[in-house]
Amino acid sequence: MDYKNYIKIVEDWPKEGIQFKDITPLMDNGKAFKSAVDEIVQYAKEKDIDIVVGPEARGFIVGCPVSYALEVGFAPVRKEGKLPREVIKVDYGLEYGENVLTIHKDAIKPGQRVLITDDLLATGGTIEATIKLVEELGGIVVGCAFLIELSYLDGLEKLDGYDVLTLMKY
Ligand code: PRP
Ligand code: MG
Repeated sequence: MDYKNYIKIVEDWPKEGIQFKDITPLMDNGKAFKSAVDEIVQYAKEKDIDIVVGPEARGFIVGCPVSYALEVGFAPVRKEGKLPREVIKVDYGLEYGENVLTIHKDAIKPGQRVLITDDLLATGGTIEATIKLVEELGGIVVGCAFLIELSYLDGLEKLDGYDVLTLMKY
């Protein structure tokens, strides 16, 4: 399936010079969304995943249906101040802005095999921060799956040595 048919490119949003990739038309189409999720599930099936981890907010959209299909748990990575119990945190840079990501300290047990999901790989700051959190808790990142990769931003360089699946490249 050509998923790009379901991505709308929005010029100069949220800032001038950014070409925002809107995934909501893909989510809006049940067959296309299921097909995309199924491809990630197939990729993950051979990896003996214990838990799926996704960064707020769009990482939830991709990761939760994948974890449901794999019948494993989902651990949310959230922006600072959102998780109610003890967390570890990491600072990271974004294509547009800066932020802090957190995860509950007990979200991952040492040695667990983790699939990380997000909608988009841009500069790689978010995935790099998410990997840091998972590894600090002793998790093993066995795969990273994205709907979209922005090749011109070189985010993949931050994922050297990790196994990566992307369904669309721009
Ligand atoms: C967007 C996107 C990825 C990240 C990619 O999230 O959903 O998580 O940016 O950019 P990077 O590779 O340069 O880090 P954003 O922080 O805008 O928040 P959202 O998911 O809550 O919309
Ligand atoms: Mg995001």
